Amino acid sequence: MNITVAKSAGFCFGVKRAVNKVYEQADIKNGPIYTYGPIIHNEEVVKDLEQKGVKVLSCEEELTDEQKKRGGTVIIRSHGVSKKTYEKLEQAGMEIVDATCPFVLKIHQIVEEFSNDGYEIVIIGSSAHPEVEGICGWCDPAYTTVIANEQEAENFQPKSGKKVCIVAQTTFNYKKFQELVEIIQKKGYIRDIRVLNTICNATEERQNEAASLAETSDLMIVIGGRSSSNTQKLYEICKEECANTYYIQTTADLHLAKTGHIDNVGITAGASTPKKIIEEVQKYVRTKL
Ligand code: F3S
Repeated sequence: MNITVAKSAGFCFGVKRAVNKVYEQADIKNGPIYTYGPIIHNEEVVKDLEQKGVKVLSCEEELTDEQKKRGGTVIIRSHGVSKKTYEKLEQAGMEIVDATCPFVLKIHQIVEEFSNDGYEIVIIGSSAHPEVEGICGWCDPAYTTVIANEQEAENFQPKSGKKVCIVAQTTFNYKKFQELVEIIQKKGYIRDIRVLNTICNATEERQNEAASLAETSDLMIVIGGRSSSNTQKLYEICKEECANTYYIQTTADLHLAKTGHIDNVGITAGASTPKKIIEEVQKYVRTKL
């Protein structure tokens, strides 16, 4: 029996880098360590870090005077933060370890430069997402609009009426991005529109690889949190290619029995699934089938 784990299963490059940085800091630092928001949406990882003394900070205002006096390290997660947040953390006397994904940092740079050049900024994405909140904090708030759907794109009217720079949240769907950009481009009165496709292909790569792996597998296992939308999407994609697809959170959810018909098993995992869990599942499958 062949067990194949998708190369793109689990953490993307930016998340892996951020999580590693936290463990690294926990190893080398003696003082208090905080992550600015949970480092990933995975309770086990957050709990594991808590045991190593890493606390989650929701905002800089949460720091008490006592904590400020003690100082410590704040790790910025892959989503990034606004310019103001860096400043406030510095003013609070904290050392900042920046684990913002380089692809997100690039967006900060783009919107800051274009904003300084008098462009109005349009961010295609979800305004409630921390990454988008962070991006908004690198350009002029009076000339920044977040657009998530067709209606909002139709309603968009640049305040300056002239120059517009459009970027995207890294995890936004490319097709939808193109559709929304087209709606804005059709408004003939905007003189200069710069479209910068800042979508990261990690999600798409994971989905494409999952589909081709599921296609050649007799049994497909998708690992990830129940409420993780990217894992749900992976499951749907795999289920279409392989009827025998399981959606599990950990090995505890997996009840396999020898059927004798399984030659190829495929495993993939959502963006917040740690390597450890993927390896456990792999080991379990090997012993059970
Ligand atoms: Fe991950 Fe960075 Fe892309 S956090 S999804 S590699 S933008």
